[in-house]
Amino acid sequence: MSRLLSKENFIKIGEYIYRKSGIYLEEEKHFDKISKYIDKRAQEIEVDSFRKYFFKLRFEDKEGSEFQELMNAITVNETYFFREKNQFEVLVNSILPELHASKPAGVPLRILSSPSSTGEEPYSIVLHIVEEGKVVEERDIEVVGIDIDSTVIKKAQAGFYSDRSIHAIPKDILHRWFVKKPLGYQLGEDLLGSVDFSVRNVFDKADMRKLGKFDVIFSRNMLIYFDDASRKEVAMTFYDMLNPGGYVLLGHAEYMSRIVSVFKAKKVGDTLIYQK
Ligand SMILES: C[S@@+](CC[C@H](N)C(=O)[O-])C[C@H]1O[C@@H](n2cnc3c(N)ncnc32)[C@H](O)[C@@H]1O
Repeated sequence: MSRLLSKENFIKIGEYIYRKSGIYLEEEKHFDKISKYIDKRAQEIEVDSFRKYFFKLRFEDKEGSEFQELMNAITVNETYFFREKNQFEVLVNSILPELHASKPAGVPLRILSSPSSTGEEPYSIVLHIVEEGKVVEERDIEVVGIDIDSTVIKKAQAGFYSDRSIHAIPKDILHRWFVKKPLGYQLGEDLLGSVDFSVRNVFDKADMRKLGKFDVIFSRNMLIYFDDASRKEVAMTFYDMLNPGGYVLLGHAEYMSRIVSVFKAKKVGDTLIYQK
């Protein structure tokens, strides 16, 4: 079967995706995936050329559902519980006690997982907070998760995970908070609903601002898919969304010093964190 997408049109749709989501696609790595997706999607919505599909995507997508389909297909959602777990330890042993001591009583501490993917990261934050126990006994802590992909947000809300996803959780913690099911693990009732999830694009500043201010932002393993200009833009959005003294934590291959210079880098043990 001949493909609908040509190399020239790959550049067109690549630029469109980049402008809307910051995700930078390379012909060598991504042509095949995008081409297969467009063939499949064109059949589903009954159009017979790239031009018609692209027109629909740009001009007849008032609800944004065609763009959402495309995002759901191209994002890389790889994640698992307790990934880079030293950062969760720094959060509960160092960052939260410090912020708790400096904040007026009665004001909640707010943590954003951006992007959350299927929820393993924000639930790992919650698991560390409840397991550590001290700060949460004295102060409300809110955890919020966002992602551009609506499929992963639905999965996060359902809280059902495969063996692969939970493999790094110590057995005692797993048994305390999850219920074993024939095909995986269901997050128990106590923690289901502990994270406020929503579908959002980090490039939509007005929409991100609606989430309010945060004390800690986890943004791990998303900036690697962006180019320098987009990384800068997102880093500054996070800066604006942080309370003074708040922290950003990045993935192990991401360095704020290479993106913007407005944060103060701090080392806690081997873990780099960035303070506003
Ligand atoms: C590899 S996952 C990272 C998940 C988790 N933070 C972790 O480190 O395990 C990357 C996620 O970034 C999301 N993403 C990509 N572009 C985005 C954007 N513009 N706004 C919000 N989320 C985005 C993808 O949908 C995907 O779920």
